[in-house]
Amino acid sequence: MENKKNILTGERPTGRLHLGHYFGALKRRVELQEDYNTYIIIADVQALTDNFDNPEKVRKNIREVVLDNLAVGIDPEKSTIFIQSMIPEIAELTVYYSNLVTVSRLYRNPTVKTEIKQKKDVFGNEGESVTYGFLGYPVSQAGDITAFDGALVPVGADQIPVIEQTKEIVRKFNKIYGPTLVEPQHLLSENSRIKGLDGNEKMGKSLNNAIFLSDDYETISKKIMGAITDTNKIKKNDPGNPDNCMVYYYHKLVNKDNVKTVNVECRAGTRGCVDCKKELIESMMKFLKPIQERRKYYEERPEVVDEILKKGTEKAGKKAKEVMKRVRQNMKIDYFD
Ligand code: TRP
Ligand code: SF4
Repeated sequence: MENKKNILTGERPTGRLHLGHYFGALKRRVELQEDYNTYIIIADVQALTDNFDNPEKVRKNIREVVLDNLAVGIDPEKSTIFIQSMIPEIAELTVYYSNLVTVSRLYRNPTVKTEIKQKKDVFGNEGESVTYGFLGYPVSQAGDITAFDGALVPVGADQIPVIEQTKEIVRKFNKIYGPTLVEPQHLLSENSRIKGLDGNEKMGKSLNNAIFLSDDYETISKKIMGAITDTNKIKKNDPGNPDNCMVYYYHKLVNKDNVKTVNVECRAGTRGCVDCKKELIESMMKFLKPIQERRKYYEERPEVVDEILKKGTEKAGKKAKEVMKRVRQNMKIDYFD
């Protein structure tokens, strides 16, 4: 167990997780926990960079994100789930790392750049609403990863520049203070980005185009019935092009056994869109069933979830202390040891 490499991954607790999270990260995460020491960070500090004025939202969603992780098959015996703000070493590392990165480099980070664009203030000005904490979140994320000797970081495509930033900080740190930190590698999922119900390139909670792992039958039915299909297929027996259809896109993900038939019948004009959507609803519910059953098990046992988080956070704290000791020694700030 000790010879295994460490994985550090996780998400901001700002909402329930959806299919985009599943195919972009969680599916792979569940497989990888067999072969790596997996640390899953519930990044509440990072969530607060965007939601500092809404702490209730962050607090509430910690539980939702943990439940979703357990629901998809994260095994608390194999993976360590912990709360970021309970590990003060991460904040400590962030302060030291902040000397190793320039402000202009952070502004140039493609992920940060995109997020700044989405963050216009009430007057429509981009720059004005950028806080010091927000601009520095990639530095804090370097703290998240290195505090656990994270060697592999499975992330979605949009997070790659953030991991790149961690690598730069690690290299600089090791060059100045001697070999101390593990340089991480990012790991991209096969489906690193899932399209939204509206055809948008990205499925996102704030984009209002997501299917959540915990959505019930009625909600899923409504969402799929409203999904974008080939606009040229108007009547039931018109031939269609599944490549222009979001329903087909999801058939490919959750109805692998029958997806070929869907394609052929759509093109031949022997399949109506309403029936096709109904089939997708059934496939989606079948796909989500084991996930939702596991979620329900843990929802009904809040004390078990509390214990998982508490134990995980304790274990993570021990690891971070060990790394912090090394950092302090090599930075020559280990005054009383
Ligand atoms: N930034 C990630 C996201 O928005 C969440 C995150 C925080 C993370 N710390 C991390 C991911 C460390 C990987 C490693 O989804
Ligand atoms: Fe899409 Fe199915 Fe309609 Fe074809 S039949 S356009 S795949 S919903």
